[in-house]
Amino acid sequence: MRNIAYDAKRRIVTEAWSPLGRGDTLRNETVVALAAKHGKTPAQFILRWHLDLGVVAIPKSQDPARICDNLDLFDFALDAGDHAQLATLDRGHRLGEHPTHCTEEQSAPIQRRCVEFESKARSATSPVER
Ligand SMILES: NC(=O)c1ccc[n+]([C@@H]2O[C@H](COP(=O)([O-])OP(=O)(O)OC[C@H]3O[C@@H](n4cnc5c(N)ncnc54)[C@H](OP(=O)(O)O)[C@@H]3O)[C@@H](O)[C@H]2O)c1
Repeated sequence: MRNIAYDAKRRIVTEAWSPLGRGDTLRNETVVALAAKHGKTPAQFILRWHLDLGVVAIPKSQDPARICDNLDLFDFALDAGDHAQLATLDRGHRLGEHPTHCTEEQSAPIQRRCVEFESKARSATSPVER
């Protein structure tokens, strides 16, 4: 939540990494109960929560019916109680590495690619644009 506020102040768009918790979040009993209250699936409820927070969510599904369901988010709204209950579920758990905790070995190839990309982008622009 702190990161979202930090980003919003700086006009940075926040995107969720695994917005459905790779499926795990959908089995949480609080999420299941709150979604049922709105007559929506847990996935729809969680995705709508992201949108309410201003967070971009790109869920993955191999199932065409689920992909359609995951877009059907605009006929209901979370209330303040829903948001408060979801906030209590934050365990600070991460599915991936914290981006600032990677080792030199992990970050070096990415930095090299960035330098190469920047150099290519510069040479692709005309001297006037430069
Ligand atoms: N996690 C990463 O490391 C990573 C990194 C870079 C980019 N991405 C991208 O970020 C997106 C997120 O993918 P993700 O797999 O990490 O996590 P996710 O979207 O949080 O969860 C995907 C899981 O949720 C299930 N699911 C999706 N919709 C559902 C629904 N309506 N009802 C029940 N289950 C549902 C999917 O199963 P089914 O497929 O069986 O429906 C899949 O097991 C993907 O586009 C991915 O390519 C992920």
